[in-house]
Order: sequence, then C-alpha cells, then structure tokens
Amino acid sequence: MTELARQLPNQEERMMRVVSVVGARPQFVKLAPVHRAFERAGIDHAVVHTGQHYASQLSDVFFADLGLPNPALHLGVGSGTHGVQTGAILSAMDQALVDLCPDAVVVYGDTNSTLAAAVCAAKMQLPIAHVEAGLRSFNRAMPEEHNRILTDHASDLCLAPTALAMTNLATEGLADRSMLVGDVMVEICHEVRDRVRDSPIELTEIGDEPFVIATLHRAENTDNPDRLRMLLRRLASLPLPVLLAAHPRLLAKASEYGIELDSGAVRVVNALAYPTMVSAVLRSSGVVTDSGGLQKEALLLGTVCTTLRSETEWVETLDDGWNVLDPDGAELSHLAARTPPASVPPSPFGQGDAAHLVSEAVISMVGSRDGMPAQ
Ligand code: UD1
Repeated sequence: MTELARQLPNQEERMMRVVSVVGARPQFVKLAPVHRAFERAGIDHAVVHTGQHYASQLSDVFFADLGLPNPALHLGVGSGTHGVQTGAILSAMDQALVDLCPDAVVVYGDTNSTLAAAVCAAKMQLPIAHVEAGLRSFNRAMPEEHNRILTDHASDLCLAPTALAMTNLATEGLADRSMLVGDVMVEICHEVRDRVRDSPIELTEIGDEPFVIATLHRAENTDNPDRLRMLLRRLASLPLPVLLAAHPRLLAKASEYGIELDSGAVRVVNALAYPTMVSAVLRSSGVVTDSGGLQKEALLLGTVCTTLRSETEWVETLDDGWNVLDPDGAELSHLAARTPPASVPPSPFGQGDAAHLVSEAVISMVGSRDGMPAQ
C-alpha cells in the first residue's frame, strides 16, 4: 500500500469519492464550479493534476485565483509528443486510481490528460463522466478532436454543454448515456466578471487606450513557421494596440523560428491569470483567438470575437456575428475591433447551473452502478 492510500479513509468509512483528473489550463477553469458543486453535495472530491501544464502562469495561478483544492496527487508528466505525454499520464494514472479508490472518475474537455484518464478509468472498470462531451470540429487533423471522440466513447456518462453536442453524441450512437447539462464555464465566467467589473485589473502595457486582446496557441497555427509569421504580421498591422497573451508554446515556437513577437501593434505579455483575462476581455474592443474557451467567454462577456481557425466546435457563438471565423486573419483589419451586433448575445450554454447538474448526474451514475437509489 502506498503512503497516499494509507492516509485516506478506506472505502467502508467514507462517503462517495469522486476523482477529477485535470492537467491543462482550461480544465482548471472547468474544475472550479464542479468542485464547489461536489462539496455542496457532500462528495469526497479528490483532484489529480497530471502536470501536462506545469508553468506557474498556466497552472498554479489558476488554483490560487479560483479557489481550487490542492491536488491529492500531482503526476508531473510535463511536455512530450502526444504519444509520450498521453502514455506517461496513462501509466501513472493506474496507481493513482488504485490509491484513491474512487467511486467515479470525472474528466474535462479534450486534452491529452482527458483521454489518458478516461482510458485508464475504463480499463479499471470505474464509471467515467466526461464534462464537455459531444463537441466536434469535424477536423480530424486536430489532436483535440481525437481526444474528444475517444473520450466520449470510453465514458459512461457524456455531459453535454449544448443541444448541438447532444445531437453529435446521438449521431455516434451515444444518446442513451448522454445528458444536456449546459456549460460549467458560464458560472465561473460570470462570477469572475462580477468580481472584476467594478475594479478592472490594470494592464500596464495598454493603459486606457482601446485595444484588442489576442491569444494564439493551437498547433495548427503555431507549428508552421510561414503560417505563424503571416498571422503575426496581420496582428502587427492592426490600427490599434494588440495585447498578445502568449502561451509558452507560442513563445517557444516563435523563438525556434526566429520570429519577433513584439512588432508593430503587438505588445506581448505572458499568459494571463483568469481574472486578468476576464477583465481584459470586458475592456477590450475585440478578441482575436484560436482558443475554444475564449470564444465562449467573449460571447458570455458581450465582446466581439474573431477566430483564427477554419472551423469551430462552438458554432453557437457564430450566431448574429458575435464570433466570426477568419482562418488566415485576412479580414482582421476590419473584423478585430468591429462594432458589436445590435442583438443581445445569444446564451446557448445554459443558465449557469451546469455544475449542479453535473454533480447530480455523477451521483446518480454511481447509484445506478451500485444498484442503489440515487443519493
Ligand atoms: C493543451 C491542449 C489544448 C488546450 C491547451 C490550453 C492537448 C492536445 N492540447 O495544448 O487542447 O487548448 O492545452 O492551453 O492536450 N508548455 C510549457 N509549459 C507548460 C505547458 C506547455 O512550456 O506548462 C509548452 C511546451 O513547449 C509544450 C507545448 O507548450 O511542448 C505544448 O503543451 P501541451 O500541453 O502539449 O499542449 P498545449 O499547446 O498547451
């Protein structure tokens, strides 16, 4: 028996234990409301951090700002090719799940951490719930697309954020294990908005000027030097300052290719903490991004978004033109800080009670597995 297993109450002494596996920045955001909902429901909730994201700006600051519990275990896998990273998490998860002995495992989103944890739990015959199930870009070149599809098919409970995600799950024969709960990011985004709205966080690189907030980190944009150079040239030539919040992958690739990020309109800062990002989106004249989460947050915060991709999983954000796809950034000069649509932003992601519904669904999944009535 390992030291961790010795410290934990054994199965007879404790309430329902759920293990959440997270490892990358967007998962820490999704974990926050779910953790609170699990606590409210009296679930013994343990977090495993895979260590996929290890830079403080992508990990520690999120735990501190969002009130996340210290992980029960940190696997420390770090970076690597997809196979190496996914494999390292998969092999380390085995012992973690033996030690933690959960009644259910919850995974989030579409990263390598999501897939590895789901595969491990499936092989150990532990019930798995996937938060943010059913998203599809239909672009099989994206690593996230493989992760989404494989995770949904390994899961016992597919918790969908939108009606369209439910349709995608049904198309793949997964309707009977799918449930529409809404998007857990709504509640955390609105909560942080309310915290920062009246006292915006200072952005020293920008001051009081109008600006565009930008992020760029997807492999399809960062890993081809010609494409990366083109996108950055287009950002640099915008007529207003562009605050580029740079993911470590972008910094590493720009340096490898000898590309100067700080050029023209672009002012580079390290990846932002969550409250700073929410504050920046609220104050900005527009968001330019290839991130999935930021497309949603822009809509939730009523800021126009331009997405540097040829497709999006979050097609609802395109309604009324709140989000516009501009795959090569060719239209950025008139899109980036465009006038917002006259319409109220649509709210396709639920009413902000998704985390509560996640917790109810997980309790019910465990109850039905045990042949017990739901708690
Ligand atoms: C991962 C997810 C992506 C998610 C993103 C959020 C996969 C396949 N991709 O992409 O879906 O949108 O997280 O940020 O899981 N690096 C560091 N420090 C870190 C983390 C990464 O320097 O703390 C650098 C390394 O050079 C690494 C590269 O970033 O090789 C890529 O990191 P990785 O976790 O593989 O994917 P992300 O691009 O962050």
